[in-house]
Amino acid sequence: MISTASGARSRSRLSPRATVRRNSFRRLLALGVGGLLSMTGVVALSGPAQAASTLGGSAAAQGRYFGAAVAANHLGETPYVNTLNTEFTSVTPENEMKWDALESSRGTFTFGAADRIVSHAQQQGMQVRGHTLVWHSQLPGWVGTLGAADLRAAMNTHITEVMRHYKGEIHSWDVVNEAFQDGGSGERRSSPFQNKLGDGYIEEAFRTARAADPAAKLCYNDYNTDGVNAKSNAVYNMVKDFKQRGVPIDCVGFQSHFNSNSPVPGDYRQNLQRFADLGVDVQITELDIEGSGSAQATSYGNVVRACLAVSRCTGITTWGVTDKYSWRSSGTPLLFDDNYNKKPAYHAVLTALGGSDDGGGTRSCTVSFAKQEQWGDRYNGKVTVTAGSSAISAWSVPVTVGSGQRISATWNGTPSWDSSGMVMTMRPNGNGSLAAGASTSFGFTVMTGGNTAPPALGGCTAS
Ligand code: G3I
Repeated sequence: MISTASGARSRSRLSPRATVRRNSFRRLLALGVGGLLSMTGVVALSGPAQAASTLGGSAAAQGRYFGAAVAANHLGETPYVNTLNTEFTSVTPENEMKWDALESSRGTFTFGAADRIVSHAQQQGMQVRGHTLVWHSQLPGWVGTLGAADLRAAMNTHITEVMRHYKGEIHSWDVVNEAFQDGGSGERRSSPFQNKLGDGYIEEAFRTARAADPAAKLCYNDYNTDGVNAKSNAVYNMVKDFKQRGVPIDCVGFQSHFNSNSPVPGDYRQNLQRFADLGVDVQITELDIEGSGSAQATSYGNVVRACLAVSRCTGITTWGVTDKYSWRSSGTPLLFDDNYNKKPAYHAVLTALGGSDDGGGTRSCTVSFAKQEQWGDRYNGKVTVTAGSSAISAWSVPVTVGSGQRISATWNGTPSWDSSGMVMTMRPNGNGSLAAGASTSFGFTVMTGGNTAPPALGGCTAS
């Protein structure tokens, strides 16, 4: 959808608020009473009789959202969408709401990809975090060429037009992103905004944002501010000053990109708390933790427990759904692996949120795919199913073939098909029992139709 800057526009979709209300109700029914109370802003019931079995459901029972960064170009991939819809209650467009995506030429706005994400979220009753209005990166070249007066006008127009387009549809906006330098200087980062407009541009951006959509929460968002350090002190002082002078700011986002060089700080909770004590909400906005296994799981659990210990920590967003599409893919930093299997970190997060996905036991399975024989027009594929730390008695695995492909034969399993013929759900032939850690496999032939890509595996479900 392309429009020129002209203030509020008519929308082709359903009235956004009506859509959100209708679908929120559907989703709240699915989440149960704990989720309903917390997502409608009423205090959540404590001690639900049955623990929620998803990230979003268990976070809702704690009065929080649990979100993921989403890319519009993955919304056609069935396992991606199934995982997103099942597990998450909030989305952040990973790149689609950045300045270069929305206004690559001055005054011409392109909302199509971002709208697709917002529509998807609304259909699922999910919240949307807006990311981001004013940032030095992913900024089209024309912005840097403007003189001060023109740049001020362009910044305010960009904020106003984008926020009006999504008025009433965005829960929280990252109004200004990453405005401070790394290291100990506590200074503002060099950018066209900083260099030409001076320190006051941040305040001006927040005031413009409040006028454009008074219902949206307005956040400052940054990285390496997760513990108490020179950079977070500088942000803290800015927020304190804003609160004292009545500059509109409602929340601070802590990106929380962690790895072995930058682990979860020991004072993470204290840092969140000191910001909350200034009278703003705090949100964990881009969480990912490189690593694997129990070390990664422990770090994830610590982050979730820190958020839950701070009453104004209103939600957590992981920076992606699956390791496959992470910006740090090789560091496997997310909760679902390349095949959408739940990782140990997933279970640590779910447990920290008070949820449980195994009815009290620990039944789980993982899957992996390998191409076997290949011919001119077809290849054979093999999927290995491995039980987790407990024995299982049944399993199922969705397999989605790509464009032009068709599965012509299967073995060692009982398939069922969706109406498109592209999604096959495979279950065991007869007895599906597997001892803890034991594996089995099934196979199939893919007629490629010229497309030799491997199929997408959905997560393995065990019982
Ligand atoms: O879409 C184009 C594609 O058409 C082209 O072929 C390809 C070749 O380079 O580039 C693609 O665009 C890339 C885009 O991600 C989508 O994949 C950009 O080059 C790439 O720079 C961009 O990276 C994004 C990065 O921000 C940009 O700074 C990451 O996906 C995104 O995860 C990352 O997100 C940031 C947050 O916004 C702010 N905090 C840090 C976080 C991680 O860097």
